[in-house]
Amino acid sequence: MPYPNLLSEVRLGPYTLANRVMLAPMTRGRAGPTFTANPLMAEYYAQRASAGIIITEGTFTSPAARGWYQAPCIYTPAHADAWKLTTEAVHAKGGRIFCQLWHTGRAGHSNFREGMDGVDDPRTVAPSAIKRPSKSAGQLYTMKPGPVEVETPRELATEEVDALADEFKNAAQMAMDAGFDGVEIHCANGYLLDTFLQSSSNTRTDKYGGSFENRYRVLDNILRAVTTVYEPDQVGVRISPNGVFNGMGSDDFRESFLYYAEQLSKLGLAYLHVMIGLGFGFHEKGDPMTMQDFRKVYSGTLVANVGYEPEQADKEIEDGNADLVAIGRPYLSNPDYVERIAKDAPLAEVPPMSMWYTSADNQLTSEGYTDFPPME
Ligand SMILES: Cc1cc2nc3c(=O)[nH]c(=O)nc-3n(C[C@H](O)[C@H](O)[C@H](O)COP(=O)(O)O)c2cc1C
Repeated sequence: MPYPNLLSEVRLGPYTLANRVMLAPMTRGRAGPTFTANPLMAEYYAQRASAGIIITEGTFTSPAARGWYQAPCIYTPAHADAWKLTTEAVHAKGGRIFCQLWHTGRAGHSNFREGMDGVDDPRTVAPSAIKRPSKSAGQLYTMKPGPVEVETPRELATEEVDALADEFKNAAQMAMDAGFDGVEIHCANGYLLDTFLQSSSNTRTDKYGGSFENRYRVLDNILRAVTTVYEPDQVGVRISPNGVFNGMGSDDFRESFLYYAEQLSKLGLAYLHVMIGLGFGFHEKGDPMTMQDFRKVYSGTLVANVGYEPEQADKEIEDGNADLVAIGRPYLSNPDYVERIAKDAPLAEVPPMSMWYTSADNQLTSEGYTDFPPME
């Protein structure tokens, strides 16, 4: 069999996964104007159920967390009910699925909340009122078609940061009600939790800023709250120490992320998911971190991601640098990625970026989403 390491069974928390391929979380913008999961999304995830485990696209934990056009939410019973279609469809095919919990922070936009009931201040929020550097921002998909200005976020008050633990706990409860096997806390790519972890975006002087310990505190609080809903080994964390996406990168990236990994190692989590490869952008603040760096300080299950071909993924596991590898872009056009690599069949090409998301005038389309055929 090709790729015997990548395609071997693995234990992840309480689950036995059929292989070590993780479907990386990918926002596809098919949740429609209500930002709610739907049958089309259930079909998409069910098509990919042979991955050892699926991580959903980023899913908003509150109105303030919203920041991507037509991405789904998970903070009301109605959101949970809507997601049941997906979890049931994946489980029916023997798959496992975690929900990625996402607060977009300063990388969102106020127009997601303008005129929304119960929202007095629609502005984006962040640890500090520092505007996201726009040069590497990528495109911002908001409620209004066409490009929008990046905004300066409002600094969260200390009590509001305290309250994030309850926000994520509620989202975790909704995820459990929806039937998800676990949750992944999104601390990568310049969204809210990553901006707390990194010195370039966090200049706070209260208990949530300054030292590594203080910058880690909000994640620690969230994990303590979320693990009252799910067991620790049903909760994963995703970080991007090398990434530049959304204008990230900090001079102390190496020391700070090693500290965070050391703390996370004590919690018995399902996994630590590290965007280690440089193919999603590199901040060039020093030598890039490697999976070996994380192996030295993190004793649990490690997931590696970004730019892995099956050969490299297999080698990374064989060499002991990772336990699973998350595959993103190849999964856009290869719903049966696992079956293909198991047969050494050719992979379909990654579709152009113009097909990755929906735009305002192209709602809920299956085109470029669920219409990639399995291999002959
Ligand atoms: C269309 C698209 C949407 C993405 N959405 C998310 C997301 O919602 N959450 C997240 O953590 N990463 C997201 N990412 C990053 C991917 O999870 C992954 O890290 C990236 O594609 C690199 O892996 P790859 O080289 O295997 O594609 C997205 C990437 C793509 C291409």
